[in-house]
Amino acid sequence: MQIAIDGPAGAGKSTIAKKIAATYKMTYLDTGAMYRCIAHCVLNQQGDRFDDNRAIIEIAKTTKITFDGDKVFCNDKDVTQEIRTPLVSRHTSDVAKIKEVRNLMVNQQRDYAKNHSVVMDGRDIGSVVLPDADLKFFLDADVLERAQRRKKEMDEKGSSKALEEIRSDIENRDTNDRNRIEGPLVQVADAIVIDTTGKSIEVVYQEMKKYIDEASR
Ligand code: DC
Repeated sequence: MQIAIDGPAGAGKSTIAKKIAATYKMTYLDTGAMYRCIAHCVLNQQGDRFDDNRAIIEIAKTTKITFDGDKVFCNDKDVTQEIRTPLVSRHTSDVAKIKEVRNLMVNQQRDYAKNHSVVMDGRDIGSVVLPDADLKFFLDADVLERAQRRKKEMDEKGSSKALEEIRSDIENRDTNDRNRIEGPLVQVADAIVIDTTGKSIEVVYQEMKKYIDEASR
């Protein structure tokens, strides 16, 4: 079974994907974390320089990304927290727009799906990574609500920012993700679209569960 979940930042994809994976004993693959790892390595090795595609591609080729439960490892170092900083978030679109970087990540993601029953979330899962997925979901939500959700998460971690700043970061990331040439964020024709605005995780989860139960029959 392969389930693809795509959608813009803050639509609730990863929370729901983890819940689905736990219920159906599937493996969850956070593809955003993979692009974040590359951005994190670039920042570590080259500082704030994201204008040298060749160097970034080399880093992507030589970086080993692994997962263990909720933890993300970059060349065997636990980077679970580091890859969630606003700086990494901002620079991830710089690496995610490079064709060669995407090809490297997509190949690893497909390899993973060959050997596992997977729930993957990202931007190009239904369109590029798993075009034959058994189920494709596209989760969306009003940008203000997405910003409010992100703010709540940040407040809980003690790294608060103004709502307007978070909203503007999200809008910029959405624009970059939707407008890049390679693997842009798209709503494919065979995706089940769910607007999560005003809905709790549980409500969205139950809605998706109906489709999954139907597909598994
Ligand atoms: O889902 P996320 O916020 O962790 O994603 C981080 C960034 O990576 C975001 O700017 C979009 C990009 N991304 C991508 O280009 N393709 C994916 N499959 C997943 C994420």
